[in-house]
Amino acid sequence: MDRGQFSSKFGFIMAAAGAAVGLGNIWGFPTQVASNGGAAFVLVYLILAFCLAYPALMAELIVGRATRHNAVIALPMLTDVPLLKLGGKVVGIAGLITVAVILSFYAIVAGWMFASALEPVLTTLGFTQYGQWVSTFGLSRNIVFTVLFMVATVLIICGGVRQGIERWSTRLMPALVVILLLLIAYMMTLPGALKGLEVYLVPDFSQVFDGGLLVSALGQAFFSLSLGVGCMLIYGSYMSSKENIVQVGAWVTLIDVGLAFVAGLLIIPAMYVAQHYGVEIFDQNGQLLGGDTLIFKVLPSLFAQMGSIGVFVAFAFFMLMSLAALTSSISLLEVPVAYVVESHNVERKKASWGIGALITAFSLIIVFNFEALFGLVIAITTRYSQPILGIFFCVYAGWVWQRNNALTEIKKGNAGAQHSIFWAVWPWYVRFVCPVFILAMFIHSL
Ligand code: TRP
Repeated sequence: MDRGQFSSKFGFIMAAAGAAVGLGNIWGFPTQVASNGGAAFVLVYLILAFCLAYPALMAELIVGRATRHNAVIALPMLTDVPLLKLGGKVVGIAGLITVAVILSFYAIVAGWMFASALEPVLTTLGFTQYGQWVSTFGLSRNIVFTVLFMVATVLIICGGVRQGIERWSTRLMPALVVILLLLIAYMMTLPGALKGLEVYLVPDFSQVFDGGLLVSALGQAFFSLSLGVGCMLIYGSYMSSKENIVQVGAWVTLIDVGLAFVAGLLIIPAMYVAQHYGVEIFDQNGQLLGGDTLIFKVLPSLFAQMGSIGVFVAFAFFMLMSLAALTSSISLLEVPVAYVVESHNVERKKASWGIGALITAFSLIIVFNFEALFGLVIAITTRYSQPILGIFFCVYAGWVWQRNNALTEIKKGNAGAQHSIFWAVWPWYVRFVCPVFILAMFIHSL
């Protein structure tokens, strides 16, 4: 079969980083920092991202590129033992289901981003009523924007790897970084910002070993790097064999973690600025008010401080966020679509619309039962499914697969790999350290 492939190293890094950078970085990470003890969470997150998530990312990329298939086919290919083949298939399918559920809540939040981008435009043009509607939490608004976002995702996925995924990812990231940095510089001049900076950067070490904090940080790291569902495995399967896969994976991790850190640098101080201007962000018990909508309250109040230019900034920021969400959502939809296309010979277009419709339906069920389902679905998929499935991906890459096959794959595009630090550490790392630590963290949290 004619599989797509990314055209260059830069194209791949941007596409994979585009998949990794999204709502998880700019909405999820700061929200988690705010509700989990500030800088202590940041510290634990950084350690877990580099020490546990990066090796797990490498496991997916390497297996993906070596097998050139989606996870449901790829994991069984690593072994000849029938029972292990079956197990691989089960893990792959569990990943498919997880990824579909993730996309169903992701589309809702992405819809909020898009709605927030339209608000300043509508209000400036004099459509104040519509501006009000798009910026207020409500059933009709949530339905419209969730569906819009899903349609946009399906349209891009119809286009395949190079046309669809790569082209969209290469230009966005730099623009996003620039606007974040400009906003941070501006915000630091406002009252309250330094207090926020302190909360973000000075950890309270007594909280570092809190079980709940550890599991949240681990889930956040796995979510942000898009692990445990075969998403990065698919991206690896589209990577050219000429690239140095170890280096490429490191770049993707650095960009993703770096952007989350920068986003926190904006959002956490912005919370305290907003508080200074009278926006309520904590209730009497010190709990965050509506953590899921936090940044949709905090950021607009920051933009409002900027005067007339704030309208443009608000539009630019939320538009970029919508597009960043789009480069992530296409990676989510790609997982089930690639499976149906490859394993069941369905035409790409048909598969995209069919699966897109199914996921949209599930999204709408969440929208209609928001209070009951939204937080629950996020907790189950990101805190539990992803890290636990991540253990299995590590076990398949480290134990089930022949060590020599992994080495052969890494050596492509990196002839000296056998004598590198990566090869000295990674094989036993995915065998022992990743599975044991992830498990230990769960046991600790119970
Ligand atoms: N990592 C993306 C974000 O931070 C979301 C995402 C894309 C994802 N693909 C994924 C999450 C696969 C889990 C699994 O916004």
